[in-house]
Amino acid sequence: MFSSSVLAVTHHPQVRRLVTNSASRRLVGRFVAGDDLATAVDPIRTLVARGLLVTVDHLGEDVIEAADAMATREAYVALLDRLDDLGLAHAGTTVTLDMEDHTTVDSTLEILGTLRREHPWVGAVLQSALRRTEADAADLARAGSRVRLVKGAYAEPASVAHTAKAEGDEAYLRCLRILISGPGYPMVATHDLRMVEAARAMAVVHGRSADDHEYQMLYGIRTTEQDRIAASGDRMRVYLPYGADWYGYFTRRLAERPANLAFFLRSLLSR
Ligand code: FDA
Repeated sequence: MFSSSVLAVTHHPQVRRLVTNSASRRLVGRFVAGDDLATAVDPIRTLVARGLLVTVDHLGEDVIEAADAMATREAYVALLDRLDDLGLAHAGTTVTLDMEDHTTVDSTLEILGTLRREHPWVGAVLQSALRRTEADAADLARAGSRVRLVKGAYAEPASVAHTAKAEGDEAYLRCLRILISGPGYPMVATHDLRMVEAARAMAVVHGRSADDHEYQMLYGIRTTEQDRIAASGDRMRVYLPYGADWYGYFTRRLAERPANLAFFLRSLLSR
């Protein structure tokens, strides 16, 4: 409820202008690695040096124009080239399609199906908050399939989503069970340590080795836990976003946690 109210406000153009003009670089920088690839390289290296795996997101969403889609494609090609030059892609690189709000799920999964015919390692994100997701998880729990399970960051209507947090969390556990008991490669993307522990227990029951599933968290969130999971021998991947189009991503991180929003508002007032 808190989160959807905050997200609703962030869509107002005046709020967008206020946040974009006043958000301190330090606060945005907690969640976003930089405005461009050049500034994101050092944070990527630092994560790798900490023994973490990294997934890199060139920020951008709500793209509907072909020209914008092509620009995004070019940005990713440049990113892959740069990572290769730096020796940061030597162990092979995969691509996972982010998931936006529920209106985009069908088209994203359709694109996934097309891409996977030629590139079977392309991964998908499923959002446990959506009522449809258990069925999608069952469908994608196939050999060779990579699925990142998240709770879902968008304010969705009750007609398609579990709006009570407890229900969403229960759904996350059910989806986890489907993915971990299946033959695909599950990516457990959450900062909720109850979910992490549940996934670990399920992995043991289903005989999954440390290289047969992984844990993922966002850049700047629960960094001590990230290191702890990596030190335990499990695969821990940090999702690192960069780019000038950080507004939607940043405001979702503020909306997820009242303390983040309070911190942001205090920093505004103290100016
Ligand atoms: P939950 O919200 O219950 O949080 C559990 C605990 O984690 C909190 O109590 C707090 O301690 C900490 N925490 C969570 N969010 C925090 C924040 N912003 N700041 C500080 N602490 C925080 N969503 C989506 O819709 N489409 C997508 O493609 C993706 N992609 C994606 C990739 C990866 C690797 C991750 C980890 C997450 C996503 N998400 C996403 C976001 C996801 O849907 C969800 O919004 C966040 O992960 C928060 O949910 P949690 O599972 O952490 O649980």
